[in-house]
Amino acid sequence: MERLQKILSQAGIASRRASEELMTQGRVTVNGAPVRELGTKADPAVDDIRVDGRRVKSAERPRYVLLNKPKGYVTTRSDPQRRATVMELLKAVREYIYPVGRLDYDTEGLLLLTNDGELAAQLTHPRHEVARVYEVKVAGVPDAHDLSRVAKGVPIDGRRTEPAHVEMLEGKDDRHATLRITIAEGRNRQVRRMFDSIGHPVDYLRRIAIGPLKDPKLKPGHWRDLTPGEVAALKRSAKPVGLPKPREGAKAAASNGTTPKTERARTAGSKVGTTRPKVSTPPGRSERPTKRRPRRS
Ligand code: URA
Repeated sequence: MERLQKILSQAGIASRRASEELMTQGRVTVNGAPVRELGTKADPAVDDIRVDGRRVKSAERPRYVLLNKPKGYVTTRSDPQRRATVMELLKAVREYIYPVGRLDYDTEGLLLLTNDGELAAQLTHPRHEVARVYEVKVAGVPDAHDLSRVAKGVPIDGRRTEPAHVEMLEGKDDRHATLRITIAEGRNRQVRRMFDSIGHPVDYLRRIAIGPLKDPKLKPGHWRDLTPGEVAALKRSAKPVGLPKPREGAKAAASNGTTPKTERARTAGSKVGTTRPKVSTPPGRSERPTKRRPRRS
């Protein structure tokens, strides 16, 4: 609840002083009744506030929500097929927030929702290249050559994906491998299709970072507001970068799992878009014989 004159001034109707005059003149109504009392409070999210009969649209406070999306929810405000949407997990949020980008129905992990249209547009703009990091479990164990292909870019719908950072994590068995991949594009089902293209379909996919945003402690189905520091970092990361295009024939280097300083600087901040794709594998892993499972249809 806020004082009416504050609501009116924040909505850009008039200064606080001039808003008080509008009130004393009986030109301001709340839920149909004129309000002349200067201390009167209202809630712009629920009350119908009008000046001279015209509805006052409150300048909603910007809201930035980080949700850990579980599997089985659609990333949309409403679903024509009536499946559960992420909004059902955010019923306590009054502001009109909406998802920035998308996670598939079967993908888990971090999803940003906001009512800040400018930031949402920047984050999803292809040139801004905000890095998203995914943990992926794939069928079979890709070898160094497979990973290099993914890192350099694979064709999807006739267009090659941008360079990615791919890192093999310790897998539990020879039938599955767990990897971390960092991409800066948001093409439809991109990670799944990248691994499909090397014959190692994704069994499990979870987004673990969006630019500077991470929260390993946030449980699936839970959400929280971003801190002011996170909002500032996100805004910095969403600035256009104009990085050079990858060099022709760039070679992906299988390494011993360490990340060079220049690479660290790019991925630890928020951008990918490296001039050279990067593959890291645990020691010895790249040389192991590969057991492939047939591609899933
Ligand atoms: N890539 C995918 O394949 N799915 C997602 O949900 C996100 C990225």
